Amino acid sequence: MSRGQATTAELRSERWFGGEGLRAYSHGTRMRQLGADPADYRGKPIIAIVNTWSGMNPCHMHLRERAEQVKRGVWQAGGFPVEFGVATLSETFQKPTPMLYRNLLAMDTEELLRSYPADGAVLMGGCDKTTPALLMGAASAGIPAIYLPAGPMLRGSYRGGTLGSGTDLWKYWDDKRAGLIGDCELADLASGIARSPGHCMTMGTASTMTSAAEALGMTLPGAASIPAVDSAHYRNATATGRRIVEMAWEGLTPDKILTGAAFQDAVATVLALGGSTNAVIHLVAMAGRCGVPLSLDDFDEISRRVPVLANIRPGGQYLMEDFYYAGGLRALLAQLAEVPGALHPDRITVTGRPLAEQIAGAEVYNEDVIRTAPTALAPEAGLAVLRGNLAPDGAVIKHIAADPALHQHAGPAVVFDGYRQMQQQINDPALGVTPDSVLVLRNAGPLGGPGMPEYGMLPIPDYLLAKGVRDMVRISDARMSGTSYGACVLHVAPEAYVGGPLALVRTGDQITLDVPERVLRLDVSDAELGRRRAAWQPPPPRYERGYGALYSEHVTQADKGCDFGFLARAGRNPEPDPR
Ligand code: FES
Repeated sequence: MSRGQATTAELRSERWFGGEGLRAYSHGTRMRQLGADPADYRGKPIIAIVNTWSGMNPCHMHLRERAEQVKRGVWQAGGFPVEFGVATLSETFQKPTPMLYRNLLAMDTEELLRSYPADGAVLMGGCDKTTPALLMGAASAGIPAIYLPAGPMLRGSYRGGTLGSGTDLWKYWDDKRAGLIGDCELADLASGIARSPGHCMTMGTASTMTSAAEALGMTLPGAASIPAVDSAHYRNATATGRRIVEMAWEGLTPDKILTGAAFQDAVATVLALGGSTNAVIHLVAMAGRCGVPLSLDDFDEISRRVPVLANIRPGGQYLMEDFYYAGGLRALLAQLAEVPGALHPDRITVTGRPLAEQIAGAEVYNEDVIRTAPTALAPEAGLAVLRGNLAPDGAVIKHIAADPALHQHAGPAVVFDGYRQMQQQINDPALGVTPDSVLVLRNAGPLGGPGMPEYGMLPIPDYLLAKGVRDMVRISDARMSGTSYGACVLHVAPEAYVGGPLALVRTGDQITLDVPERVLRLDVSDAELGRRRAAWQPPPPRYERGYGALYSEHVTQADKGCDFGFLARAGRNPEPDPR
């Protein structure tokens, strides 16, 4: 049997089940134990449904049911579906941060696909790090794969208005701290802010990365914008199941889709969406798995020529449900394609067809939600890469989500050596924090955090909030939730924990931020910094055993994507011989 390019004998799973040897016989006996006769699976692509469902991951609580719709599509197309559970990364519950475990899920996915008889894979995820992890693993495994985004949850609802997950949590918590709302309001908020399955419905990291996956060409067209509970999500799952069977026959592997042009387009898309700063780290890591050079400078360069077209919180006004009704990502990509040089319309996607075909005719149904270049929220995307003696390897700021008055700012540092210290001291008036102060948090990077937690939106002291201060310059080697906002300089590299210049800052030092000039500078003489460096003592390793030790020994810095060096590099990694 042959469809597309592959014959039955060429199916990868045939290495397990083909031939007359003992192993093939043994594998057949255990397939019968699973309840499958040879007629069920022989000569058919075996499709691994890689499911990040968990009872402790509310963003993925519908994925067990949705896997059944994927299986329906696989059966329809003549494949044999098999569901696998893999690690689940719940942004809410997993500590110290799911970022510590992104590479673990990537390894889990790669090794699962490599070591089992899979001819193709449907990857099911959505909550923040899940998307890059699954795609990194699938790219390294190198078998046909398609991503099925979990979809955003419905709009939040609160006293006749809407709520955005994350974004409004931070906003109303500040209102509570400022004494503007009380327990009754908080109780209503708690019930209304996350009221359906699905990932965060603001343009946080989840929506950013699922949209990036679609822009990369790794989902069916339009998949990233469909709300998790919409019937279109069920239908997309079935269509995804059908398509992966065809991809297995066609031998359409990720390397044919995840090209340099695809990553350039994903960066442009993320920026046009006003997406999360976390995308910088994840896309750099994903590109590294594909052998595609992608640097911080690419983000800065593309940011200067791509307008912000999506009016979605936290940078804009609406939520992902509104975005879907307005036409979704296909409509946004159609608008982005009108910007000269923004997209590469000829590259192929999981459909096997050019991107241009997939977005042709996509209409915008609400021009306030999805803008055109002339009506863009901002003529340039709102992300800048900063450099200077405080961040020799770079730092990022999403200045579209910051008070413009702070884009150029110089002020005295108030330094915290860690998150706990910051929590304990931030509201102490004795610190003398003023609106001009620059809050500095260090030892919150890839190693120092550990796992580079989302501590980067440092809280403004209560006594300043009460005076109406809502933004200040904040600098850290941490990340920031995609749903956060403010003049937060993030991802300072190298991090303080490995002796980056952030480790040398002292309270009272003057720091200069100049976004238009892309500068982050510690206004201290080189001689004085040299003295401080000579006195600096490296901290002991956070972990002496376990996964944390593996992570600590191999994780790269933020500007390199925080992948493990041994996963990011090219090299021999033979397929198993199941016979
Ligand atoms: Fe899962 Fe926000 S907590 S996407």
